[in-house]
Parts: sequence; C-alpha cells; structure tokens
Amino acid sequence: MKYLQFTDGTKIPQLGLGTWKSAPGEVYQAVIDAVNAGYRHIDCAAIYGNESEIGEALTHLLKSGSVKREDLFITSKLWNNAHQPDAAHLALKKTLSDLQLDYLDLYLIHWPISIKVDAGFPFTGSDFISPEELPFTVTWKAMESMKKSGLARHIGVSNFSIPNLNKLIRSAELMPEMNQVEMHPFLAQKELFHFCSDHDILVTAYSPLGSSDRSSGMKADDEPSLLQNEVIQGIAGDLDCSPAQVLLAWALQRGTAVIPKSTNKGRIAENFRAQDISLSSDQMKKLEALDGTYRFVNGKFWTPQGSPYTLEYLWG
Ligand code: A2P
Repeated sequence: MKYLQFTDGTKIPQLGLGTWKSAPGEVYQAVIDAVNAGYRHIDCAAIYGNESEIGEALTHLLKSGSVKREDLFITSKLWNNAHQPDAAHLALKKTLSDLQLDYLDLYLIHWPISIKVDAGFPFTGSDFISPEELPFTVTWKAMESMKKSGLARHIGVSNFSIPNLNKLIRSAELMPEMNQVEMHPFLAQKELFHFCSDHDILVTAYSPLGSSDRSSGMKADDEPSLLQNEVIQGIAGDLDCSPAQVLLAWALQRGTAVIPKSTNKGRIAENFRAQDISLSSDQMKKLEALDGTYRFVNGKFWTPQGSPYTLEYLWG
C-alpha cells in the first residue's frame, strides 16, 4: 500500500474509495468489497446522502474484526449550508453519528461557497450567502477547533484555488493539510499542485476517471472521455492494464491521493491494483501532453443569475 505523509508524520493511504454518486443500496457493499480488497481510505461527504449506509458498513467491518479503526482513514466534508461555526459543529456531529465514528481522520470544507440552510438544487441567486457576509475564514476557525478537540484529526479544504488558499492561509492559525480538487490528465493543475506542495498541503485528486456517472444536468453534451482517450488506451495496451489503471497510476506517481468511485466489486479491485503499475517517464510525458484544462465539475451551478460567486472567484 502506498501512503502520503502529513507534516506531523501521520499517513494517509494514497488510494481511497470515492463515494460520490454511490447509490444508497449499493454503497454498503462497495465499502465492504473495498476493505476486503485492501482499501483503508474511504472518502465521504454529508451531501452525498449515503453516510449512514457507509456507517453501517464500517461498523460491520470493525465489529467483525476485519479491520481496526486506527488502520482506516475516513474523510468527510462540511456542506456549504453549514458554514456558520455553530452549524459546522452540528454538521460534524451529524456526520460522526451517521458514520458511527468517534472521530474523522480528515474533515474538509467542501467548497469555498456558502448557501442558506434550506437552499435546494438547482440553486437560485437568493440561495447564497456572500463571501463578505460569511467568509470561509470564519468557517475555518470552527475547523481549527474541531482539530483541537480531536474530533477531526486533520483538517483541510476542497475546491480551493491558489487565491482562495492564500486568503485562508493569511488568517489561519492551523494550516489546511489537504486540498481535494478535480485532477486527471485533462486537468493536471500543475500550478495549484506546486503551490500546495510548497505549503505542505497534500492534494487529493477527485473525478480521476472523469465521473461519467454524473447526472445529465451536470454534463456538457460534447464532454471528452478519459477512459476512451486514444493515448490513455494506447498506454493501457502497452502495459496490459486498463485505461482506469493508467489514470490512477498517473495520479499516484505524481504524488497525489486519488479516490476513484466504484460500486462494482471487480472494478473496485481493479482500481486498487493500479498501485502495482509503474509508468515510464515517456508515458508520464505523453499523459502530461493531454493537459487541456477540461473541468468535468465546472462549478457553473454556483453561478446562477444573482449569485455573489463567479467562476473567476472559484477557480482563479
Ligand atoms: P462503477 O461504479 O459502475 O464502477 P470517478 O471516480 O471519476 O467519479 O468515476 C466514476 C465512474 O467510473 C463510475 O461511473 C464508475 O462506475 C466508473 N468506473 C470506476 N472504476 C472503473 C474502471 N476500473 N473502469 C471503468 N469504469 C470505472
């Protein structure tokens, strides 16, 4: 198993199971299959709507002795409607109760965006709380106290650009330890990755396979495919592995954590075996040449008419 290290010396398994879009009714078995296949890192979030089912699976695994709590690394994320400090503490409590855990290994601010408690998807302009009214630096104070209390062993952010990270760092007492962002060969995010490395912030790559199971409302008609890309398929052919494994090996070799989602037992195991694949520098270069700044999760749902947030604010 491959690991990355936080500045305090604790480790995060580089390959984790993604659970965004894992349907209730399927995610229980996916978590069991993943842990049985060797996964020790599970990536969750309150907004995925499946944390209580994941909690059932974790409890089953822990009670049966298949795995010990200290060997698991469980991440969750604070949803945008709970950025007020009091609400953030309650949200962590709810996530811990749903996951049936005493502590999280990592808790992230899901987006640098605040919405009202009762905002419903798709969002309208009046659903938002502006960054002036509720800056994420205020939420970060709550995250810091969660770390101090031990309820979250590590704290970080997700979907943060360099300018937003700079804003956060300037006022932070405790540094963010992780930035989870979309990352794959079509969106290598070199500059952001370097910035994070320079500031001792680890990076987790989400949507590493292109998240083609997103709802159609979130997809462009002409969206490119990573798994069907000729270069990626060519490398997979040369290495006698699958295109998904090439994508995961690329992320691992760059030094990011990576969280492919699957609820299929065979693909869960296949993705885990990507840790055994080594790409040559020539193959890494070919993958690097695909970088074209294509975002599958483009964040446009945060910028309806009247929203105080823009794509420029989000991505820098
Ligand atoms: P499934 O859950 O049926 O395996 P991402 O991690 O980028 O969000 O991508 C998730 C999508 O990729 C899901 O549709 C998932 O389907 C699919 N997927 C996961 N692993 C593989 C794999 N090894 N090969 C092909 N598709 C995969």
